[in-house]
Amino acid sequence: MDKVIRNQLMIEKILYPQGFRYKFNKDLVTELEPEQGIKEIVKHFKPGSILELGSWLGKSAVSFGKESLANNIDAKILCVDTWLGSHEYWTTYIERQKLVAESFDIFCSNIVYNGLESNVLPFRQTTKNAINIFKHYNFKFDLVYWDSDHSSVLQDLLMCEDILQDHGIVVVDDYFQHELVKQQVDSYLLDKETKKESIDDKIIIRKY
Ligand SMILES: C[S@@+](CC[C@H](N)C(=O)[O-])C[C@H]1O[C@@H](n2cnc3c(N)ncnc32)[C@H](O)[C@@H]1O
Repeated sequence: MDKVIRNQLMIEKILYPQGFRYKFNKDLVTELEPEQGIKEIVKHFKPGSILELGSWLGKSAVSFGKESLANNIDAKILCVDTWLGSHEYWTTYIERQKLVAESFDIFCSNIVYNGLESNVLPFRQTTKNAINIFKHYNFKFDLVYWDSDHSSVLQDLLMCEDILQDHGIVVVDDYFQHELVKQQVDSYLLDKETKKESIDDKIIIRKY
């Protein structure tokens, strides 16, 4: 059996000993634009195991899933989110607040609608708690896609070092749009003496 599939079966068994069942409601399906840069990232790095930190309604997860299949990669994508919304949903992006209560059901309906149930698995947790659980079980990923709490990107990047495969990469969203994210990513890169790389509007950080 393929190593990625074997790992994913093990991950699913540990996170959901009783199994995970998607719920589908066609009235909750959302039109999702492709997430910028993901097509190029999948084509270039061909990741088999992806951890997504911050999934919301599933836009980036669906992009990763569709692009992987388009490249003949049966990628497994583990999506971590509280589905309780970010700080900004009560402060600056108020229009998202009304979606919070149904956000997990919308995410699930979007995954089913796009036929990605066997590729995408949600895990409803805080980023910090989830990474500590993955570390405990020695889960490793080829690619971590970060799009979570802006105030904790530095802490999240440091924690991700333990759950990345050798030569794995972290892809960071929101760097060019949010100063708070930029400052922490720059500080991480400086500390690690790593040069900044980007694809489209995403920052790429490689583990050597
Ligand atoms: C910008 S959205 C993610 C967008 C998504 N990648 C997409 O393509 O639409 C950020 C998400 O991070 C989640 N989030 C914020 N803080 C979190 C935390 N500490 N742990 C887990 N999820 C968190 C929110 O619930 C929200 O769904």
